[in-house]
Amino acid sequence: MHQEKRFGVEGIAVSIPKHFIDLGTLAEATGVDPAKYYRGLGGRRMAVVTPIEDPVTMAVEATRTLIDRYDVDPSGIGMLIVGSESGVDAAKPIASYVHGMLGLAPHCRTFDTQHACYGATAALQMARDWTSRQVGEGKKAIVVATDIARYEVGSAGEPTQGAGAVALLVGNRPDVLVIENHDDAVYTADVMDFWRPHYSSTAMVDGHYSLECYLKALENTYLTHRAASGLGWDDYRHLLFHVPFPKMAFKAFRQLHEIESKERNGDFGPLEEQFDRMTAPALWANIEVGNVYSASLYLSFAGLLEKSGHDLEGARLGFFSYGSGCCAEFFSGTVGTDASAWQGRIGVAEALAGRIELDYDQYLELRKETEAISRDGSYRERPASNGEHVWFCGVQGHQRIYARAM
Ligand code: HMG
Repeated sequence: MHQEKRFGVEGIAVSIPKHFIDLGTLAEATGVDPAKYYRGLGGRRMAVVTPIEDPVTMAVEATRTLIDRYDVDPSGIGMLIVGSESGVDAAKPIASYVHGMLGLAPHCRTFDTQHACYGATAALQMARDWTSRQVGEGKKAIVVATDIARYEVGSAGEPTQGAGAVALLVGNRPDVLVIENHDDAVYTADVMDFWRPHYSSTAMVDGHYSLECYLKALENTYLTHRAASGLGWDDYRHLLFHVPFPKMAFKAFRQLHEIESKERNGDFGPLEEQFDRMTAPALWANIEVGNVYSASLYLSFAGLLEKSGHDLEGARLGFFSYGSGCCAEFFSGTVGTDASAWQGRIGVAEALAGRIELDYDQYLELRKETEAISRDGSYRERPASNGEHVWFCGVQGHQRIYARAM
């Protein structure tokens, strides 16, 4: 009998900066009631990069961890895609740096994908399609989502910052997630809800409008996916969303709950109870890290896998990916049936252990230093190690220079 081939995620690993600021510290320093950030936005802490960390170093760290922990043969990687909206160069992709620093084979296609927070999902779908047409058995792709979410100091977006990277191994032995094959449920609209001009290191946003755009895209893609797949609410163990701030996942869940509830004439389980069961367990890492743009959805996924382990074996998950501007997609997948293949290897809690808390002045100082080190002539010999394996040293002769631990 013909068995349908399965493709998807074989491994997942993360990189999270070692420094953070508590949202209460930010609130108190700027005269805001901390409850607005803790309860109103649902966050707790946000990761802050030091000058030696950037989207490249985080991508390298996440990919290196992925390769080490899942015993990946680097010569079998035929495609490396980095999804990011924090590109460090208008021409050279982050993927080239990652490829070089990790010594991947020359016969590997490398490029970045950019569409705000949707970039990594575009990359994942492309990688999945690519692996499905490989003839060589061992051919695999790596997709990395890496971003620094940064808004103006004092802006409404400031409490929704964060940073980090998630790396995914994609291939035909999807122990982590089998991505299901259905017609695409995507949605695009040319909107100005969030953007970052080339001359700006911080994003600009029409905050409340961006929430509307997100929810409209969610409704659209959810209904499209439901019609295309025949899968309904009861088929999902968990629903995962792009998480710009944790309360947004609640707003998203509520939107879908309302749709379902209306169709069943209100005869539907209570909102809070269902949210606590289906989505809240996937938010703990986002609450600690903040918005990671293209990596947010995948950090949520990594957190859920790590915490829920064997309970998830064989479970179906729904994923909503949203990138401002905007492009969105709803897709589904089933978790692999052997949690021992991935649970202990993801390392989210490990990456969050021993983080260093910043006060408000230290946070502002790091922002300033991080801006300065990206300018030409900022190169410093041997920057202090952050306990990481790769550091950004600065720019010399208009080239970014990185150092690696031996
Ligand atoms: P704001 O206008 O300062 O906040 O900015 P608000 O007045 O809307 O209050 C926020 C919540 O706190 C509200 O709760 C208030 O009631 C509550 P809600 O009514 O929404 O449930 N609140 C309090 N709660 C307890 N105690 C208090 C208190 N005060 C108020 N004392 C906004 C909020 C999200 C707009 C802002 O942070 C922002 O602009 N963020 C950035 C944009 C963003 O995250 N958009 C999300 C959708 S777009 C997206 O996800 C894409 C993105 O990731 C980028 C990409 O794609 O690359 C952003």
